[in-house]
Amino acid sequence: MENKTTHTILLIWTHLCRFVLAGLFLFSGFVKAVDPPGFTYKIQDYLAAFGVAGWFPFFFPLFVAIFVSAIEFCIGVFLFFGIRKHLSVTLALLLMLFMTPFTLYLAIANPVSDCGCFGDAWILTNWQTFWKNVCLLIAAVTLFRWRKLMVRFISRKSEWLVSMYTLIFIFFLSFYCLRYLPILDFRPYRIGTDIRQAMAIPEGARPAVVETVFILEKEGKRQEFTLENYPYADSSWQFVDRKDVVLEKGYEPPIHDFSLTETQTGEDITDLVLTDPGYSFLLVVHRVERADDSRIDLINEIYDYSLEHGYGFYALTSSPDEEIESWRDRTGAEYLFCRVDDITLKTIIRANPGLLLIRDGVILRKWSNARIPDEYVLHDKLENLELGQLEVPRDASTIGKVFFWFVIPLLLVLVADFFFIKRRDSGKEEDTYHINPLITNKMRKNIVAGNWKMNKTLQEGIELATSLNEALAGETPKCDVVICTPFIHLASVTPVVDAEKIGVGAENCADKEAGAYTGEVSAAMVASTGARYVILGHSERRAYYGETVEILREKVKLALANGLTPIFCIGEVLEEREAGKQNEVVFGQLASVYSLSPEDFSKIVLAYEPVWAIGTGKTATSAQAQEIHAYIRSTIAEKYGQEIADTTSILYGGSCNASNAAELFANPDVDGGLIGGASLKVADFKAIIDAF
Ligand code: PGA
Repeated sequence: MENKTTHTILLIWTHLCRFVLAGLFLFSGFVKAVDPPGFTYKIQDYLAAFGVAGWFPFFFPLFVAIFVSAIEFCIGVFLFFGIRKHLSVTLALLLMLFMTPFTLYLAIANPVSDCGCFGDAWILTNWQTFWKNVCLLIAAVTLFRWRKLMVRFISRKSEWLVSMYTLIFIFFLSFYCLRYLPILDFRPYRIGTDIRQAMAIPEGARPAVVETVFILEKEGKRQEFTLENYPYADSSWQFVDRKDVVLEKGYEPPIHDFSLTETQTGEDITDLVLTDPGYSFLLVVHRVERADDSRIDLINEIYDYSLEHGYGFYALTSSPDEEIESWRDRTGAEYLFCRVDDITLKTIIRANPGLLLIRDGVILRKWSNARIPDEYVLHDKLENLELGQLEVPRDASTIGKVFFWFVIPLLLVLVADFFFIKRRDSGKEEDTYHINPLITNKMRKNIVAGNWKMNKTLQEGIELATSLNEALAGETPKCDVVICTPFIHLASVTPVVDAEKIGVGAENCADKEAGAYTGEVSAAMVASTGARYVILGHSERRAYYGETVEILREKVKLALANGLTPIFCIGEVLEEREAGKQNEVVFGQLASVYSLSPEDFSKIVLAYEPVWAIGTGKTATSAQAQEIHAYIRSTIAEKYGQEIADTTSILYGGSCNASNAAELFANPDVDGGLIGGASLKVADFKAIIDAF
């Protein structure tokens, strides 16, 4: 009972951790994918702050940005659906193991002011980020330790579909937003923003006192300067970065750094541009030397168009005069250039170049280089075009569209998969190493298998099978039911039972394929009766018929080759248990199946049967059973990986009966029973089945 309560609490806690972690990874991956340049700038900030920016090729930050957002999003989806558990939980843990100490360092040393973990969508201070990561690390450790408790919502057969779709979706989103601007704009220069209003400080509000600090470098030495001690006279200092240090907190307007200085005259034309009641185009080229000039003809056409209709046209850049001159030479640009802070330009539009249309200080449109409008779009005056009117994008509708394109197809997979699993659960399909998560929290099958041993004549056997079939008619057992009978019963028993409810198996098969082996029955012969299972390695056969690890290896191979599911038995004798050698013994016996390929191994069922408990009325205690089952599973995980370990059913056998079955089966690693004596009476066997 106590065991069950602890298990339930653990289950709830694990799932809480799972969904919190999944939600945050999904959110964090999504907001980064929506704005790849934003995260790229953040990575550039980090590289610069650590003085290693020059170590990497120019595309490295963007590559990392897209890659990290895809990984985070995939971890979120995988955790949510409970698929690729080992991979997703390990990645989540590794990320948190790296991020937690890293953000502690950020919080203490403050090399960058915002860690950027949720892009611009949710800005946390460095300390907030650190504490958030501590919570996530606890969740990741919990999940790593108890990942096998995670319920899977999608079967293994369909998980590749979900994985592929998620990957394609997230890469598509990143590249789409990279090319055509972020689909959600979290920055202060959204369409519809009145720049003047966003810069204003409301009456009575006290503005923050902010000091701009410049980081300069000379002969490998970095130093910070303010406007007061800036070394204007010494040109050997190289600009590295600048940051705003808040000296006194106060009201901070959303926009505080929008200022346009005409490059040729040095005149501040901010007000002139923002108060112009007519239209103005702002061509934002934050660095002209790095700008894409492939659509320069369109840009020049827009300049001509604005001249023709009397609209303003200004190019905004942070590049030095020589670079502007070289741009003019290259592109034939005749428009006016204004110098604007580099970070401001990158904040205004995530494209280089990008184009803005403003009127009366209000942002009406934004275009990336790939979407610059052509003469067909601008066929009339802006006053007469829809394009010239303000249309504020509705985030709810954008999120709705994303939801539609991502969630709806996945829901369809989920529904299809659910019915697919249901069909398999009702026995119409083979290979059912997955169970309906709504029935139980484990993702392996629960099985109750009878082992008739050398009991019952043919007539008695048929009668027993028929009665069991009747007892189960109209019921849906919460486990798979199998009866393993002597060879001579097989062909007569299979037709009398409902194959969708009761599987039939043999108790042994030969270690040879066919030929002159008088008295033996081959795996092919067993399969030809309609039987689907075969018990192999039972302790009675090991003890009385000298079955060794090698012989059993052959039998298992032949059983699998003939489409039979081996129920492979292992277990120690009393002296071995008393000497505390049970783990070593079962591990030694498992050698017969540990030479199988992962694919073959995942087809077998194991049965742990302590020899001292078989037919003696002496059962292993629930704790003893759980302990050794968990050990067996851990060896499978080591050999074949966690995923296979989690899907291998391990049955308990040895004096299992109606009164102790429920307690034994309540253990997380006990997936049913192999029942000897109690399988010979329908009422007893049925009561064990009902223990689930
Ligand atoms: P038992 O036998 O249930 O009679 O102990 C189990 C078995 O040998 O499979």
